[in-house]
Amino acid sequence: MSDTIHPPSAEFAENAHIDAARYRALYDASLRDPEAFWQEHGQRIDWIKPFTKVKDVNFDLGNVSIKWFEDGTLNVAANCIDRHLASRGDQTAIIWEPDSPDEEALHISYRELHARTCKMANALKELGVTRGDRVVLYMPMIPEAAYAMLACARIGAIHSVVFGGFSSDALAARVNGSEAKVVVTADEAPRGGRNTPLKTNADKALDGVSHDCKLLVVQRTGGDIPMQEGRDHWLHDLEAKVADDCPPEEMNAEDPLFILYTSGSTGAPKGVVHTSGGYLTWASMTHELVFDYHDGDIYWCTADVGWVTGHSYIVYGPLANGATTLMFEGVPTYPDASRFWQVCEKHKVNQFYTAPTAIRALMGKGREFVDRCDLSSLKLLGTVGEPINPEAWNWYNDVVGQGRCPIVDTWWQTETGGHLMTPLPGATATKPGSCTTPFFGVEPVVLDAQSGEEITSTEAEGVLCIKSSWPGQMRSVWGDHERFEKTYFSDYKGYYFTGDGCRRDKDGYYWITGRVDDVINVSGHRMGTAEVESALVAHPKVSEAAVVGYPHDVKGQGIYCYVTLMAGEEYTDDLRKELRDWVRKEIGPIASPDLIQWAPGLPKTRSGKIMRRILRKIAEDDFGSLGDTSTLAEPAVVDDLIENRMNRS
Ligand code: WTA
Repeated sequence: MSDTIHPPSAEFAENAHIDAARYRALYDASLRDPEAFWQEHGQRIDWIKPFTKVKDVNFDLGNVSIKWFEDGTLNVAANCIDRHLASRGDQTAIIWEPDSPDEEALHISYRELHARTCKMANALKELGVTRGDRVVLYMPMIPEAAYAMLACARIGAIHSVVFGGFSSDALAARVNGSEAKVVVTADEAPRGGRNTPLKTNADKALDGVSHDCKLLVVQRTGGDIPMQEGRDHWLHDLEAKVADDCPPEEMNAEDPLFILYTSGSTGAPKGVVHTSGGYLTWASMTHELVFDYHDGDIYWCTADVGWVTGHSYIVYGPLANGATTLMFEGVPTYPDASRFWQVCEKHKVNQFYTAPTAIRALMGKGREFVDRCDLSSLKLLGTVGEPINPEAWNWYNDVVGQGRCPIVDTWWQTETGGHLMTPLPGATATKPGSCTTPFFGVEPVVLDAQSGEEITSTEAEGVLCIKSSWPGQMRSVWGDHERFEKTYFSDYKGYYFTGDGCRRDKDGYYWITGRVDDVINVSGHRMGTAEVESALVAHPKVSEAAVVGYPHDVKGQGIYCYVTLMAGEEYTDDLRKELRDWVRKEIGPIASPDLIQWAPGLPKTRSGKIMRRILRKIAEDDFGSLGDTSTLAEPAVVDDLIENRMNRS
């Protein structure tokens, strides 16, 4: 951890929306009188019927209920498109940069965004989608992904975006879980010079779906794709038939806008539910203030729309603010490690937002890939997804930002809808590796992990919880409100439990120390170890598996698997490879195991519970301090695991 302090430059602070004094005043006001604060800031979006009630929140287990602006009505798509047409119809809403630099970029104006979104909305209606129906999106990073999200919002349908890198099995689970009426996909998704067969994957997924579900297919590559009569429809065919205007539905502030599946410490991924009014208020306010977005700026977030970052900070936040948002189809290293910086130069990007894993990977390629590009347009840099190590922070600051761009290290989660702790670039002095201080209305607390007591001293270390609600908070788990309460409100009564550990330093700055549950963070992608375990034990030769994270130079955390085979099976390198491919097929390439150790036995308590703490220590190469092993049923198992541990380099 580094305590070097980087204050905002006087010049930046002077032109910023929020300087230090204003941050303090507004933050205090937001806690002192949340009703008044959000009464005012809830006006940043256009309401059809204005709200009269600001908030109604209960965090008590058994009665958890979260409502913001509950009697207001609005349409999210109208906020992201229609309200800008009079003043900025010709302004670029989306710049689309394709996977290959040889293909032409697109500039989509707000007027065009309106027409394309309406067409897509009418196409969905043609397929029978109405208010409240679920639509799954399984898409490449193309403008149609944004049109589809906004089209759902326009007609009051609930979208559930599934990352294009997920397998057909994972897609099927999400289509079933949300009982989606339509899956919107594309023929293929080009990425890094290779095409992922999305439509073929979707076909396989639908084999595992028992309810009636249609496919709406966008033509991206023109690859040869079989279409199933009656079930599959080309978007361009439907669009040729429908009008380019579609009136927005009047929705309640608390009507669901989207479901997004995310991994937890137990069971299958859960569908995080976000609603309309509070979510949009939060996404747009944080986008404007955290990135210090000003009219005319070109803003780029490199995430995929399959993750919450893509929802809040490629689509909803920027478009609600009438911004120009860049959408990139490709990867940072294709055709070479200069690609990000070439795109910044080409489109004169002002704010650039990416993940620490990408920064570390590019840092490893050497600074010449950055130095050959003109990055003088950059004004601000951001990171998200995992703790950033000071070395990567400093490289980002010195080499990419040339020492002139503030860095915002934004801590948040799928569940939080948008940033909760982050520097405000004109207000907050930054420390490399710290997400610094809370955004308006956010009350972080550090609890003692054992006692659950709040630690009130400034310096503290423990479990990170949030004391009261903010408008962008998730409202429920799709179809399982009890699971919502149990996951987030049962361990520490009266608080929202984040699942993260943290340290608060003498200046009141927060440092996220990583997850305290069985969730690991691989290249900024969140994964439940239980998911990888259940994929492994689904293999006919595997009898038992335990999965933990271990420190990885580029990915942040790597996936370390301990596997016990069925009696009589042979432990071979070929089988290791087979298991790795198996997990990729079951979940997707992002879940690919880095290391598989054969474990004739797993350390268990006498009651048969796997002692993951010990497995974590062995994977971290830190077995000098295994802690209490007195409850182990068979202590010799541990010696064997240590002796045969995998080489991590
Ligand atoms: C981690 C991504 C440290 C954290 C927006 C959190 C971070 C999980 C940061 C959520 C950060 C995210 N510093 N850790 N700036 N941002 N995390 O739901 O462990 O994919 O709980 O949301 O990522 O991951 P999720």
